[in-house]
Amino acid sequence: MADRSSVSQLFAPPARVSDGSFYPSHGSYEKMYAQSLENPEAFWGSQAEVQIDWFHQFTQVSDCDLASGMVAWFLGGKLNVCHNCVDRHLSIRGDKVAILWEGDEPGDVRKITYRELHREVCRLANVLRHNGIRKGDRVAIYMPMIPEAAFAMLACARIGAVHSVVFAGFSAEALRDRIQDARCKAVITADEGRRGKKTIPLKRPVDEAVMACPTVEHVFMVRHTESKVPFYEPRDIDLGEAMKNERPYCPVEHMDSEDTLFLLYTSGSTGKPKGISHTSAGYLLYAMLTHRYVFDYREDDVFACVADIGWITGHSYVVYGPLANGATTVMFESIPTYPDAGRYWDMVERHRITQFYTAPTAIRAIARLGDEFVKRYDRSSLRVLGSVGEPINPESWNWYYNVVGEGRCNIVDTWWQTETGGIMITPLPGATHTKPGSATFPFFGIVPVLLDDQGNEIEGNGVSGLLAIKSPWPSMARTIQGDHRRFAQTYLDPFPGYYLTGDGCRRDEDGYYWITGRVDDVINVSGHRMGTAEVESALVSHPGCAEAAVVGFPHEIKGQGIFAYVILKEGFDADAELIGELRNEVRTHIGPIAVPDQILITPGLPKTRSGKIMRRILRKIASQETGELGDISTLADPSVVELLIEKRKGL
Ligand code: PRX
Repeated sequence: MADRSSVSQLFAPPARVSDGSFYPSHGSYEKMYAQSLENPEAFWGSQAEVQIDWFHQFTQVSDCDLASGMVAWFLGGKLNVCHNCVDRHLSIRGDKVAILWEGDEPGDVRKITYRELHREVCRLANVLRHNGIRKGDRVAIYMPMIPEAAFAMLACARIGAVHSVVFAGFSAEALRDRIQDARCKAVITADEGRRGKKTIPLKRPVDEAVMACPTVEHVFMVRHTESKVPFYEPRDIDLGEAMKNERPYCPVEHMDSEDTLFLLYTSGSTGKPKGISHTSAGYLLYAMLTHRYVFDYREDDVFACVADIGWITGHSYVVYGPLANGATTVMFESIPTYPDAGRYWDMVERHRITQFYTAPTAIRAIARLGDEFVKRYDRSSLRVLGSVGEPINPESWNWYYNVVGEGRCNIVDTWWQTETGGIMITPLPGATHTKPGSATFPFFGIVPVLLDDQGNEIEGNGVSGLLAIKSPWPSMARTIQGDHRRFAQTYLDPFPGYYLTGDGCRRDEDGYYWITGRVDDVINVSGHRMGTAEVESALVSHPGCAEAAVVGFPHEIKGQGIFAYVILKEGFDADAELIGELRNEVRTHIGPIAVPDQILITPGLPKTRSGKIMRRILRKIASQETGELGDISTLADPSVVELLIEKRKGL
């Protein structure tokens, strides 16, 4: 990737953001950051004491040894995450709006106060309890972006059940695999979702998935679109009806700090998605603190993170972080281009949104449709604009800053991962001078380092390497569901004593961090993580596919697109029908987000003499950067490269 850091401009925090912000200067950030590293136990211990409502105070701040895979925080503490997000606010902000829901149609709004949230969550928790869900049981949530999705997550937390939210865009098969892996006892879903006037079937894929999931005893269904869907009693339970029968109070389970709060599946470099496991106290504390400081959250703000709850961003910054801080959090069911590209700013005007958090792919998609969609609306309420999920290109950054924010807002380009639980590298509004495209500096308590291939730390500035984190932090993932060895092998064993992120990174002359993208076989499509091996295994399940190799390539809107090279079996023709079938295969196995943008049928692939596919070459061909292919003399058959270059031109 081109080095963007050498040509970057520096933006001082706008005055209206610095005014009254938590950290009003870079010096104040540096001081606090230094304190957090000097004595992490004191720093995290005092934060946890103040921010979390404990039933029983913890007795030890941490017990961690990254090299051996041991990570535990706030040992001996008892708390309940739902209590911290809901109950504790009742006496001071019972009538404040907790969830501000905006449906698919503009202006289709529901406002749920903290008091109402408490009642709904209690009712839902009681339904779960009365149907046999107990502490430690796993519950899959496959829902559209409706308030009931948040109620369901919080209800699980309330009774100590572990939720596993599966993005509603994943297929029945993908859902089945995740339910089976976590041995879920129940699924919470809706009849259908709605996005940009289209309906998304949910109950039907659940039915299909659950057929192969003997652990599932009940499917709880919210009637959202009210369309007729199959309903199999007594397995299926109408959640709305059942909630009407429950009392609006449900006691909370006292959970240990280290009890699992949720699993969230994400892609890795091998075929099987991993169930990343997060625990209660550390995750909650970190989600809260980052929400407060990274977005400079203040009591009267209206906070909007438009990510789906099927991703970690939705967990930490639609639900847990904002609610733990007693915020009004916006939940958005629709898409940025419905009914037109002004939808976000229409919402900003109507709800007086103060912080707005989205992904670069959404910014690119609407920026190209013209500034008039933005300028039509009053955005004067905005103070902080956030970006997450992939590197933001400086053009999009500038558009976000100048057109959307009119130069009055702080842009926070936040780098983090499903595994990190919360934001790790980010500007702080008011404090950080920003450079378009750089995530800037680490959050309190976070020690990023750059490693060379041997695991040596690369000191100083103006250097690049593998991004790793040197010391544990409270919200880091604890394990992979059912596979602690894989957890250790992926993140901790490669370089003992470090958490390896899988991203490449540059630290520029001024010490700013620039994420350059994944260094493993994971691609980042529209800010969503996709393992190339997963897509390959979906493709080869087609009877005509002998072999497949998938790589990422630059895509104007998605950031990275999916490029598949496919070798067909004897007797299959490379026609449009077959390409359609291959696409469909991926849609069925994983979901629409994983469908390749380009499929190139080829008689061979560039392989070493030992049979290893040279992905580096495939990436270059897909990106049409064939001027710099490097050494291809080790290939078993170098002529295949020329052939692929020609075929790529013809696509
Ligand atoms: O490659 C990095 C990229 O997204 C990956 C994490 O994906 P996921 O676990 O799905 O979480 C996404 C939302 C937190 C990272 O390894 N990434 C995330 N944020 C940024 C980013 N790359 C560059 N800049 C970012 N701000």
